[in-house]
Amino acid sequence: MNLKIAPSILSADFAYLAQDCRDVLNAGADWLHIDVMDGDFVPNLSLGIPVLAGLSKALDAFYDVHLMIRRPLEYIDAFARAGADLIAFHLESDSDPDQTIEAIHAAGCKAAVSVKPGTPIEQVYPYLDRLDMVLVMSVEPGFGGQKFMPAALDKIEALRKKAGSTLMIEVDGGVDAATAPLCVRAGADVLVAGSAVFGKPDRSAAISAIRAACENGESGL
Ligand code: DX5
Ligand code: ZN
Repeated sequence: MNLKIAPSILSADFAYLAQDCRDVLNAGADWLHIDVMDGDFVPNLSLGIPVLAGLSKALDAFYDVHLMIRRPLEYIDAFARAGADLIAFHLESDSDPDQTIEAIHAAGCKAAVSVKPGTPIEQVYPYLDRLDMVLVMSVEPGFGGQKFMPAALDKIEALRKKAGSTLMIEVDGGVDAATAPLCVRAGADVLVAGSAVFGKPDRSAAISAIRAACENGESGL
């Protein structure tokens, strides 16, 4: 299994962002998950282009950018220039999905669509042949530290059946050592974990615990 763990920097200490991110990479994180919120698509504001540009200059990593913004298409080039390696936008946003996927690839990044808990997974099916990844939200987007919604598991399972093995499936929200194995068993191969990694004093132990739980197939739900 090629499992990737992508800590969400939303739970990092922003006063020491590069240092905190270096710490999770040294602790075994595969990607850095960057949550961008515009205070409109979701009821919260987080960070944007200058923060990603600064971080990607300071740290060599795979930048997995999750755009929770109303008009993603307008900002694709700027995020790509700032260092994004993969850009996920929401199917529920106002931008045209085909144009946005095309713009992401034209900017040299991998492309993903994300769906909120209330959006049926079948709505991503028309785009699968053009996507590198689908991001399945297991909480309402907007805040870290929420409780995992098990309904995400059925969506992941259906998507894995439909898409086959090459599509990456990322799950985001409430993922920890207890819920991660359920996600992996359902077919996810990229796990976002904010509070379960950045929120722990020993990041190496936190990442190892998630990985070990997935390898052993343990679950705590
Ligand atoms: C929520 C974000 C998530 C969030 C995950 O809108 O997309 O990436 O920060 O945080 P945890 O792992 O704490 O649920
Ligand atoms: Zn996210």
